[in-house]
Formats: sequence, C-alpha cells, structure tokens
Amino acid sequence: MDDGLNVRAETARDVDTTRAVVAAAFGDEPVAELLDALRASSAWRGLSYVAEQDGRVVGHVSYTRGWLDAARRLVEVLVLSPLSVAPEAQHAGVGSHLVRRTLELLENRPEPLVFLEGAPAYYGRLGFRPGVPSGFAPPSIRIPEAAFQFVALPSYQAWMTGALVYPDVFWEHDAVGLRDHPAAAGGPT
Ligand SMILES: CC(C)(COP(=O)(O)OP(=O)(O)OC[C@H]1O[C@@H](n2cnc3c(N)ncnc32)[C@H](O)[C@@H]1OP(=O)(O)O)[C@@H](O)C(=O)NCCC(=O)NCCS
Repeated sequence: MDDGLNVRAETARDVDTTRAVVAAAFGDEPVAELLDALRASSAWRGLSYVAEQDGRVVGHVSYTRGWLDAARRLVEVLVLSPLSVAPEAQHAGVGSHLVRRTLELLENRPEPLVFLEGAPAYYGRLGFRPGVPSGFAPPSIRIPEAAFQFVALPSYQAWMTGALVYPDVFWEHDAVGLRDHPAAAGGPT
C-alpha cells in the first residue's frame, strides 16, 4: 500500500519525531534507548528511514552493521532493527511497505545480507527466510530458530555462510533473543 505514504531517508530534523514513534510503538520496552545507542555507535551506517503519511512520520526502520563470520573472511552485513509503526497507524500496511521499499533502496549496498529477529509470519511475507537452513548461525541460542531470518541482497555470493555477529550495542542493551522463554534454546525446560 502507498496511498499518501512515502518512504524516505531520515534526516537530522526527523530524529526527535522518530524517537517518539519508536518509544510509542514499543511501549515499556527501552527500544528508543537502543536506537540512540546505535546512532552513536560504530555500527551506524546512516541507513535509517521513515514512512511519512500525509507529511507526518508514522514509521521508522534502521539497519546497522553486523558481521558474518564466514570461513573466508569477516563480511559486513546489515541487521534490521528496530522496526516501528506508531500505534495509531498500525495494521494499515505501513510496516510492510517500509520494509519492502527500504530493501529495494539497499540493493546497491556492499553488504550482501540483511538479518533480523522477528515473527516469521510477518517477515516471511516480506521476503525473509529462515537463516539456519541456509547455513547461518544465530548470534545467540536464545533466538528461536524460526525468528532468525535473512534476505540476500544482490552482492550476496554462495560462500557467504557462517555465524552472525551482532555489534556491542545489542549486547550492552541486552536486546538479543528472548530470556527465560520456552521458544528459545537455553530457556526453561
Ligand atoms: C510490528 C509492526 C512494525 C507492524 O507494523 P504494521 O504497519 O502494523 O504492519 P502491517 O500493517 O504491514 O501488517 C500488519 C499485519 O502483520 C501481521 N503482524 C503484525 N505483527 C505481527 C507479529 N508480531 N507476528 C505475526 N504477524 C504480525 C498481522 O497479520 C497484521 O495483520 P492485521 O493488521 O490484520 O492484524 C508494528 O505493529 C509495531 O511497530 N509494533 C511494535 C514494535 C514491534 O514489535 N516491532 C517489530 C519488532 S521485530
């Protein structure tokens, strides 16, 4: 859907509004703080995008640098996180359009892969596939296997398999996987 909906690169003027959208979308979860830290980190690549509806920012997604620890060498890859749609704008296709459009915008990037943790029912429709069957190891045993997903970009080559390594910020914010959750390995049995 794109009626009145425009996806574009975030600018410095958007940052406060974006932060409010992220905080509202995630409620009690401290994801706006995670985004602040990502912005200030060496993982930040300026790959931050907003969805505007009738001139108002209603959605945001950012992609930061991770690594794939492949046999041949470390490969810079992208991690999609966070994805946020303002509560009043949810269930109208904004998140889907934002992800689809930004993946198109990333097609010329040198990074060959985009990884994420998320609901397969949601991201599967947007082109993401389960990582483990394609030779990728998740960065934590606490990520349910089905939640660990990827999309290959045009620069992907077949030798690029291995373990995803997250940048420090995700660990500093304990924002990796699920804790004490039966769907994650290492959770209570
Ligand atoms: C998840 C989120 C980005 C989706 O944005 P959205 O604009 O509402 O999504 P879309 O309208 O494109 O798609 C909505 C559909 O996706 C599906 N969907 C949404 N969240 C889902 C989830 N967690 N699991 C499975 N399916 C989901 C539903 O089928 C939904 O259909 P419905 O509107 O009939 O209920 C938004 O709800 C959000 O910001 N949530 C809070 C933050 C969050 O959880 N971010 C994702 C972290 S991985």
